[in-house]
Amino acid sequence: MAVGKPAKHAVEELTEGQQNRRRMLAWLSSVGLFGSAIISAISNLVFIKPRATYGAPNRFGIGKPDDFPSGTRIALGEHRVCIVREGDKLCAISTTCTHLGCIIAPSETGFACPCHGSRFDQDGNVTGGPAPKPLPWYALSLAPNGELEVDKGTEVGAGTYLKV
Ligand code: FES
Repeated sequence: MAVGKPAKHAVEELTEGQQNRRRMLAWLSSVGLFGSAIISAISNLVFIKPRATYGAPNRFGIGKPDDFPSGTRIALGEHRVCIVREGDKLCAISTTCTHLGCIIAPSETGFACPCHGSRFDQDGNVTGGPAPKPLPWYALSLAPNGELEVDKGTEVGAGTYLKV
């Protein structure tokens, strides 16, 4: 076995500058860890709350009966419903086409769909085109504040009117 020089162990005293640099690096890494823990906690809190949307409410007010004079058929585009008034009778008919869901518009003879040409009569019955079903009628009621309320969660039979 060859005997050589003993390995030189590098036990060196750290200079004051090196010690300061190590303390600074330790401090910076602590701050970085603490910061990432804070960011992680905040992002967890943000994502705990579900981001689900539930769409438009089924029940909504549309104004006073006097806002719908006799003989009018007023389509409320944002609610996809048409309010029809004949004398003292009011009803709410869906304006969502029963074919593929386009928004239909009132026409001379009832309702017409711009997408594939379905036609409906004044009561929402299919008179032409690919639509498979008539337009649903929704429950219409008078709220205590005198405002009309449509409930799209409740379908009623065609010909069901609210008397005011
Ligand atoms: S969506 Fe109305 S006819 Fe097709």
